[in-house]
Amino acid sequence: MFIDVRRFKSTYSRSDTKRVLPTELTYFMPDMYKKTLLVVDGDVMLLDVLEGILSELRDEWDMTFVNSGEEALEALARSPVDLVLADIHLPGMGGIHFLTDIKNRYPHTIRIACSGCAHPNTIVQSLEVAHQYLPKPLTLATLKTMLSRAYELQGRLSSTALRQLVSNIKALPSIPTIYQELEASMQSPHASINTAAGIIAKDMAMLSKILQVVNSAYFGLRRTISSPAHALSLLGFDRVKGLVLSVKLFEQCTQAGPFPVALEQLWKHGLTTAVGARAIAQLEVAGSLAVEHAFMAGLLHDIGLLVLNTNFPDRYREVFRLIKEDGQGITSAEREVFGATHADVGAYLLGIWGLHEVIVEAVAFHHEPRLNQQDHVRVLAAVHVANLFDEESDPSMTGGIGTQISTEYLVACHMDDRVPAWRKTFRLSSSPDTTPVA
Ligand SMILES: [Fe+2]
Ligand SMILES: [Fe+2]
Repeated sequence: MFIDVRRFKSTYSRSDTKRVLPTELTYFMPDMYKKTLLVVDGDVMLLDVLEGILSELRDEWDMTFVNSGEEALEALARSPVDLVLADIHLPGMGGIHFLTDIKNRYPHTIRIACSGCAHPNTIVQSLEVAHQYLPKPLTLATLKTMLSRAYELQGRLSSTALRQLVSNIKALPSIPTIYQELEASMQSPHASINTAAGIIAKDMAMLSKILQVVNSAYFGLRRTISSPAHALSLLGFDRVKGLVLSVKLFEQCTQAGPFPVALEQLWKHGLTTAVGARAIAQLEVAGSLAVEHAFMAGLLHDIGLLVLNTNFPDRYREVFRLIKEDGQGITSAEREVFGATHADVGAYLLGIWGLHEVIVEAVAFHHEPRLNQQDHVRVLAAVHVANLFDEESDPSMTGGIGTQISTEYLVACHMDDRVPAWRKTFRLSSSPDTTPVA
């Protein structure tokens, strides 16, 4: 079966868009051209249902639906796509084999795996070749969220340098399965703290790290926390989920690169920034969701640094040389060496993992907030300043790569007079424990 629904012409051709847009501006213009989606599912009836569900997105996406990996490869040979959504139980070659093929032949294509009945081991396997895993049934809301983030992400990837950089990363971390299990458990109608705690408790090494962090002075808890259920009830699901994500991510990047501080210190820098950004956001933002976004973005803001440092040690040595000898700023040095920054890479990674756009934006612009033109200025501002306050208090924490507060940005947002209050709040929030997170 082959259903081609490419019925709508886009206003701008892809080549036009690439030609006229300078790299920086592509951040703000992801909707200049239609994206392409290939849906692969062995269940013909389900494929029809998916086509019906997705029909309202045809103005934004050109979509093709096929029911085997072999047909999908034929379709891709005719015309590569931006995103593939594939069931991992495909007839014939199988979904994992298919996604592996796509990864090798079309490394720029975003790969999303899905299934209605996958064994946890199969999900783990799929995340080795897919950027993200979605449990079935797939609702319009889930698909819309996934596609709109991928849409924005493709805009970011319009930078050729970033596309090349990302496709050359051999060990691009996948979203941790345990994080996805936690997300799924909390969306279930039977969601409970005990279910989520049970998921965390399955990974003893991670559990001990989470408890070590939760019991540190960062969180100011007066009681000793000894169980994941206790941590979840006191800190809330979002913060624990963020810690799980961060711990697992650092586990995937264990190879030491040229970055002149230990990974534990970089982790600690993320945690201090997270706690500080959350406290600053509490001063400025109404609503707990934005406050938790500030925490998550603070925790993960330098993951691109981790990825670049681990995967390209020689080139990152050159970045440091430019910083130390030529006095360049970190983003300028990274652009000279890689054509993109660690903030770009981190935001790309969080985007393909499906994290909230506010978090992705805060990570993308944490060194250069003036480039952001979205509305989530306060979360970004909180992460931007918390990162710099931590670097000011201990420049060795981040290898002395210090940057400066963007006064231009804060003036434009009418927040420049808030800096003294933010600095005081940051100081009060960050009385870190001396125990490193090993
Ligand atoms: Fe950074
Ligand atoms: Fe940082």
